[in-house]
Amino acid sequence: MKIWAHRGLSQRYPENTITAFEQAVRVSLLTGIELDIQLTKDREIVVIHDEKVDRTTDSFGPVREHTLSELKKCHIHTGNEKPEYIPTLKEVLDLLEEPMKKGLLLNIELKNSVTDYPGMEEMATDLVCGRGIEKNIVWSSFSARSLQKVRTLLPDAEIGILDRRVSDCLYKLKGGCGANALHPSFKGMDLSPNELEGYTVRAYFGGHLYPEKPTGGVLDLKGLEEKGITDVFLNEPERYL
Ligand code: G3P
Ligand code: CA
Repeated sequence: MKIWAHRGLSQRYPENTITAFEQAVRVSLLTGIELDIQLTKDREIVVIHDEKVDRTTDSFGPVREHTLSELKKCHIHTGNEKPEYIPTLKEVLDLLEEPMKKGLLLNIELKNSVTDYPGMEEMATDLVCGRGIEKNIVWSSFSARSLQKVRTLLPDAEIGILDRRVSDCLYKLKGGCGANALHPSFKGMDLSPNELEGYTVRAYFGGHLYPEKPTGGVLDLKGLEEKGITDVFLNEPERYL
C-alpha cells in the first residue's frame, strides 16, 4: 500500500500549512503529499481546502473574494502563540521541490467543483513546469471538465478523477475526462477487485483533522488492498510508516 499525507500531516498539525508539509517531508517511506488549491480575488493560487476561510482561520468569507494580501493577514489556528498563514502554491513548491527531486510525489487537487475558477488549470500547470518536478505531480479534481483541460495542457501528466464511488470514477475515466487513475472514497468501493485490475486506485478518508483528538481504531490496510485500493490519503500517515 502506498501512503500519502492528506493536506500534510493534518492530524498533528493544521492542515495545508507550511508546518504540516515540512513535517510530512520528514516521514520516511511516505509516497507523497496531497494539497488543495483555489484562486484569490487577484488570481493568485493559494493552498486551502474550503471555499471559505471561516473554518481554518480567524477571518471569514470566500477565498475568491479576498486578495492574496488580505488572505495573508488571516491567522490559521495553531493552538500556540505562533500563527500560520495560508500558503501560496508557489511557496509550497519552493519547499517541496528538493524532496520531490528525490522522489516524493505531490497530489495537487484543483478545488473547482463548487466554485468555478476559470484559468486555474493553466496557471497551476505553468507554475509547476520548468522546475523539473512535472513527473512527480498527480493532478486531481472532482471536475471532469477541469481534468480534461489539464490533460490537454500536459499530455503526459498523471491524473486522478475524484468521486465518492469508484464506479463513478471509472465511468468518468472511460468517458474521456483525461484521467488515468481513480480517486474514490474508501467507503465507495462498489466494484470488485477484478473490475479494478490494472487501475491505480488512490482512496481518500475522512478522519480527524487538527486539533481534533483521534477516537482510536486502526485501518486494515491489507483488507483495503484486497478491495483493489493501491494508495491511501491519510491525515495521520506517520502512524502507518
Ligand atoms: O484527494 C482526496 C481528498 O483530498 C478529497 O477530499 O475533501 O479532503 O479534499 P477532500
Ligand atoms: Ca483534497
